Amino acid sequence: MNTVITFQEHLSEFLEKFDDLSRRYDHTINNCSELGSLIDAYSKFITDDRNKEAWEQLERQESSDLNQLVVGLRKKSALCVAIMEKYRAFKLQNGNVEMTDYFQNIESCIEKEFGSFRVTSKSKVLLVGSGSFPMTPLLIAKRTGAEVVGIDIDDEAINLGRNVVERLGAGLNIRLEKALVENLNYTKDVTHIIFSSTVESKYDILDQLHKLTNENVVVAMRYGDQLKSLFNYPSRDVDGQKWRQVEKILRPDHVFDIALYKKA
Ligand SMILES: C[S@@+](CC[C@H](N)C(=O)[O-])C[C@H]1O[C@@H](n2cnc3c(N)ncnc32)[C@H](O)[C@@H]1O
Repeated sequence: MNTVITFQEHLSEFLEKFDDLSRRYDHTINNCSELGSLIDAYSKFITDDRNKEAWEQLERQESSDLNQLVVGLRKKSALCVAIMEKYRAFKLQNGNVEMTDYFQNIESCIEKEFGSFRVTSKSKVLLVGSGSFPMTPLLIAKRTGAEVVGIDIDDEAINLGRNVVERLGAGLNIRLEKALVENLNYTKDVTHIIFSSTVESKYDILDQLHKLTNENVVVAMRYGDQLKSLFNYPSRDVDGQKWRQVEKILRPDHVFDIALYKKA
């Protein structure tokens, strides 16, 4: 019981810190290192096997307080990851690139994103939730020569992201747009789609994409279940008439896992 209480206290502390740091974001790099350390500590916490058991015990209690804590942590940590990308983009503008553990963790997985459904130079890739530091489009375009379009709902993320692509992706076929999938001409031609894990409406968008995409499209859905659902929106059942899961890429040491879908 004590372990569970301590675990829940840790979660409350994380939430307080994420909340505080997200409120203090002022479009400068103030608080950058504080937030970087917090995100790294949180990444370690949610991939630490020792916390799995405490999480399972806590989950069995089905308390509404816990539910609120989980929902709050998911939302605030997602917001803070988006802010961290902004800090990283500001730093690049000032000529300073550094890599925190969290980003290394994300970037080391991009190679395996599509499992056996490889991206080639002829592929057309769409990333939903490209963020202010669009590392996924940069790495995919650089390694494969594919065309990549990233979309985001945040104006600042699009502007900062374009700046990053200009600096790090000269000559690569990457476009960032503030657009919804239904308003993008490109959607009907895409071969590969990636959903950022911290896009809350990702499963609703997946459902909507069924009628907007071609028959051969493959979708990589980043998600986190159980303990990892404290840092990611979790997986959901999909309409079996529309999509079928074809592969699951579980990565115990990474902050999120990946489910691959093709049309049913
Ligand atoms: C910061 S990135 C995080 C990327 C991280 N690598 C991941 O996999 O979650 C997430 C971005 O998704 C954007 N976003 C959230 N909801 C979205 C939506 N419905 N459509 C497009 N972008 C969205 C946010 O504005 C944010 O910039």
